[in-house]
Formats: sequence, structure tokens, C-alpha cells
Amino acid sequence: MAMTQTELLHELEPVVAGELDRHEKVAKEWFPHEYIPWSEGRNFDGIYGGEAWQDGDSKIPEAARVSLIVNLLTEDNLPSYHHEIATTFGRDGAWGTWVHRWTAEEDRHGTALRDYLTVTRAVDPIALERARMAHMQSGFVTEYGTMLQQLAYVSFQELATRISHRNTGKASGDEGCERLLARIAADENLHMLFYRNLLKAAFELDPNQTMRSVTDVVTTFQMPGQGMEGFARKSLIIANEGIYDLRLHLDDVLMPVLRQWAVFDKTGLDAEGEQAREELSAYLAKADVTAARFVERREERRARAAARR
Ligand SMILES: [Fe+2]
Ligand SMILES: [Fe+2]
Repeated sequence: MAMTQTELLHELEPVVAGELDRHEKVAKEWFPHEYIPWSEGRNFDGIYGGEAWQDGDSKIPEAARVSLIVNLLTEDNLPSYHHEIATTFGRDGAWGTWVHRWTAEEDRHGTALRDYLTVTRAVDPIALERARMAHMQSGFVTEYGTMLQQLAYVSFQELATRISHRNTGKASGDEGCERLLARIAADENLHMLFYRNLLKAAFELDPNQTMRSVTDVVTTFQMPGQGMEGFARKSLIIANEGIYDLRLHLDDVLMPVLRQWAVFDKTGLDAEGEQAREELSAYLAKADVTAARFVERREERRARAAARR
């Protein structure tokens, strides 16, 4: 019989405690202010008198700028994410300790990124502030009703964020920006490890239900920035630049995590578990074709653009 979410939360508690211990040993303390080139900063117009931001202020290419904004707005929405995971995982015991620790670490990301972008005039601060207000006011509500689904979602989502920060840094062509984003990406990787290990333990406890949850999440996965104004257009710019696209999502996010869970080698699943795994495999095969086609078309577009130059 399938375990209830309450039973699973209870059974996983010691695993959470162990993972917290491991996390605290490997997570390195770091300070956002050390990553910001403060001497490059100058006043904007307004209270202190200075120059208003203008397009030419930023040396960062358009696509990387779009991605920086999407990533920052996503980090800004932390209160909603905190609410979602605190509601599901609870605020007591080891689960609660993790929820608060994770929240504190995530909060550093938005702070550091905003300082960097403002001081270096990488993005329009007025447009950014308006976008932040709009995005946070629309909030974020998880699509997933169970703890297992949410664990699966965050396992993939933390890795997706890692890849996205990392590739945005590279695409920025800005050494300081890349350094900061690599630092943030290292945090995201540890978050992914935490959740991935927890879900691995859930596979031991209730393999069939866990398989179903993984399939539900993989087949409906949306980036957390979904719902942001102009998200579809922004995602396309980001994908065209190769910062984050379906190919990367499959090869660098979904597959490595699924392999870690040994999803395709599990034996002894019941009929429902098998059915879930078959759906998962079918979805991955189809997505692989779509990803290949997208990359092919992108190559063609790039070749045509190069020929025109
Ligand atoms: Fe983050
Ligand atoms: Fe994270």
C-alpha cells in the first residue's frame, strides 16, 4: 500500500537530519559584498544627482541581460517559494531547519545579483524594479500537490538554476559577473544534491509512488520564472543563445538526476510503477526528438546569420 505523505515526511526526517549535517560541512560561507566592484559605481539621477541609466551603460550582450533579469526575478520571488516548501515540509525539526537554512542561502543570491547589476549598470534599474514588483505581486503557487512531487520538482529545478546561472555568466562576457554567477551556481548544486538524496531515499521507502511522482513532474516541468511578464519571449531568447534550452534540460538536468536515482534499472516495481516509468521513457524519447530539431534549426539560423555578415 502507498505510504501517506505524513508517513513519508516522518520516515524521511532522519535522512533530512543527515543531509543537513553533510550540507553544513560542505557549504562554504561567502560574502556578497566581496563580489561587487563598488568602485565602478556612480550615482543615478534622483536624490543624489547623477546620470540616469542608458542603454549604452551596459556592456553585457542582450541575451545575457535578459537571462540575468529572469534569473534575478526568479530569486526575488523567494517569499513565495519559502511559503510553498514551508507549507509542505513544515517548519519543525530537521525539515524546518533545512527550510530556513535553504531560504537564508537563497536570499543571498538575489541580494548579490542585484548589487552587481546596479553597481555595474548592467541593466535598467527602473525597469528591473518595476518587473520585480510585478513578478512578486503575482507570486508563485506550486502545481504539485504532494511532498514527493515537490521533492522531485526541486531536485530538477535547483540543477536547472545552476546550469542557467553558469551559462548566463559565460554569456555575459563579463569576468566579475561570471565569477559571481559561478559562486551562486555552486550553492544551487548543493541544494540539488540535498533534494536529490532525499528523493533517492524516498525511492527506497515507496518506489512505485515515487516513480509516479517523478513522471508527473518531468512530463509537466516548467521553470519557476513561468508566469513572469514576457516569459515565453524571454525563454526563446535564452534558448537561442544556448544559455538554457530543451537540449540542456534533457542532457544536463533530467538525465543525470534520473540516472542517479537509477530510475531505469529499478526492479520489482508494481504495475502502476512500471506504467509510470513507461510514460517517463516515452516522454523523454519524444522530447529528445524535439530538442534535436530545435538545435538543428538554431544551427541553420546561425549559419545564415554568419553568411549575411
Ligand atoms: Fe538561488
Ligand atoms: Fe537553490
